[in-house]
Amino acid sequence: MKALVTGASAGIGRAFATTLAAAGYAVTAVARREDRLAGLLAELGPGHDHLAADLTTRGGLQATVERLTEPYTLLVNNAGVAVHGGFAETSLEDSLTVLDLNCRAVVTLAHAFLASAQPGAALVNVSSTLGRTPKPGLGVYSATKAFVTSFSETLWHEQKARGVHVLALCPGVTRTESQGADGVPSWLVQTPEDVAARALRAVRRREGPTIVSGRANAVFTAAAGLLPRRTAVSLLA
Ligand SMILES: NC(=O)c1ccc[n+]([C@@H]2O[C@H](COP(=O)([O-])OP(=O)(O)OC[C@H]3O[C@@H](n4cnc5c(N)ncnc54)[C@H](OP(=O)(O)O)[C@@H]3O)[C@@H](O)[C@H]2O)c1
Repeated sequence: MKALVTGASAGIGRAFATTLAAAGYAVTAVARREDRLAGLLAELGPGHDHLAADLTTRGGLQATVERLTEPYTLLVNNAGVAVHGGFAETSLEDSLTVLDLNCRAVVTLAHAFLASAQPGAALVNVSSTLGRTPKPGLGVYSATKAFVTSFSETLWHEQKARGVHVLALCPGVTRTESQGADGVPSWLVQTPEDVAARALRAVRRREGPTIVSGRANAVFTAAAGLLPRRTAVSLLA
């Protein structure tokens, strides 16, 4: 079993890499910071490899696509970024980078993976609860995650007949480098390891097309979905 994990140098992606390695996968860890990837590989031991690539660049994306011409059992499209602040007040360039990583790279790598995926293979696209409950101040990010969830759900159906499982994984607040979880009640905060373990369980059980990680997040997302949109958006703000 072979897995390629993007954004494996930190947070949820790193937890995916360690969880998958412990479950017997040979892991290819992809991210920009090579020193971090080397540290991860030292921890994982022999049988794993890494690829330093910036997935917002043509070259980085192409190198990763080429790696996916080898047959992989699992692709975890995890790398993602956000721009915080009101859309009109933040840099357009930064917002377009969010689109490049959270959407363009996800679509490109999914396409490459599915070209050679065998029956039994699985694709996990890391979305977010904010894909269902958009948050003011994270407008572009929330919209990219709505894209990821929607894209994954249609792929789930398209790929079912050939035995390839597709899953949109929607974590809620998870304490990582980019998410300090300041001011969030502790019962709502998950660890990257919780999220990766939940996803792997879902892959094994062929759950999907979408799962929300954590009971509190699932209840909160379902409840917010019942509210009028203007109330839900104001609540999230
Ligand atoms: N944390 C949360 O609360 C939360 C909640 C819901 C969903 N999510 C989603 O979960 C995923 C992981 O989030 P996280 O919190 O674990 O993030 P994180 O700790 O900030 O890590 C982000 C990872 O993405 C990589 N990355 C960033 N830009 C990249 C680029 N241009 N090319 C290649 N790799 C890049 C980073 O590595 P390098 O810097 O080394 O490239 C790092 O490994 C994201 O898709 C995020 O949207 C997170």
